[in-house]
Amino acid sequence: MSRKLVIAGNWKMNNTIDQTRELIHAIKKRGCLTHKVDIVVAPPFTALRAAAKAAGDTSIQVAAQNVFWEESGAYTGEVSPIMIKEAGAKWVIVGHSERRQYFGETDETVNRRLKAALAVDLKVIVCVGEMLEEREAGQTFAVLDRQTTGAFTGVGAADLEQVVIAYEPVWAIGTGKTATADQADEAHAHIRARVAALYTPEAAAAMRILYGGSVKPPNAKELIGREHVDGALIGGASLKAADFCAVITAGLETHA
Ligand code: PGA
Repeated sequence: MSRKLVIAGNWKMNNTIDQTRELIHAIKKRGCLTHKVDIVVAPPFTALRAAAKAAGDTSIQVAAQNVFWEESGAYTGEVSPIMIKEAGAKWVIVGHSERRQYFGETDETVNRRLKAALAVDLKVIVCVGEMLEEREAGQTFAVLDRQTTGAFTGVGAADLEQVVIAYEPVWAIGTGKTATADQADEAHAHIRARVAALYTPEAAAAMRILYGGSVKPPNAKELIGREHVDGALIGGASLKAADFCAVITAGLETHA
């Protein structure tokens, strides 16, 4: 089964509107864009429209970093699925570990966000991943099972092709510590088996599972080259056009 690669840049709380335009123009200039890969960038809400405009008709697709589940109403500070879509997002990231750690995100709220995003035809990157203490206590697979099952509760099989899972071990995010390719592939295989149990083996075989956590040009090829690793969710290295492009190129080489 050949799955189309996804290389996504999670910019986190970085880049003003001007910086967003500059970074996207720099990516375009490097000549690494291709329709063979789903190339996604996730700027802050305030720069979504500028990002979509700067991307124009290139292969760059724009994602929001979070979304609320209600359509409208008295939810001060929140942004609805239709609002981010209108601003130019085709994708949204939900359940990032920073949202879980700092903003009280739970498996249940991840599930609500996922369903609300799918209802307006957004594509979704759902993040899962264990903390260091959980890995050390031998709970990695149990955590991945709980988070995956929780995220997909009530999501119909027909919507699955709109969804990508990102495995991001929390201990590898922004720390410079990458999971080894073996650790990543093992976790991805486990998540894939969980998707098979929740849906069907075919749905699991088609599901794209990205690795995230200190992905950089020097380690990208080895990670993305693994059987169950279908791309990367990149934080720090996605803020530099040269590094982001180098990961796209490395990914393509593994799928040549
Ligand atoms: P990092 O972040 O590449 O800076 O480790 C990854 C992420 O949080 O998505």
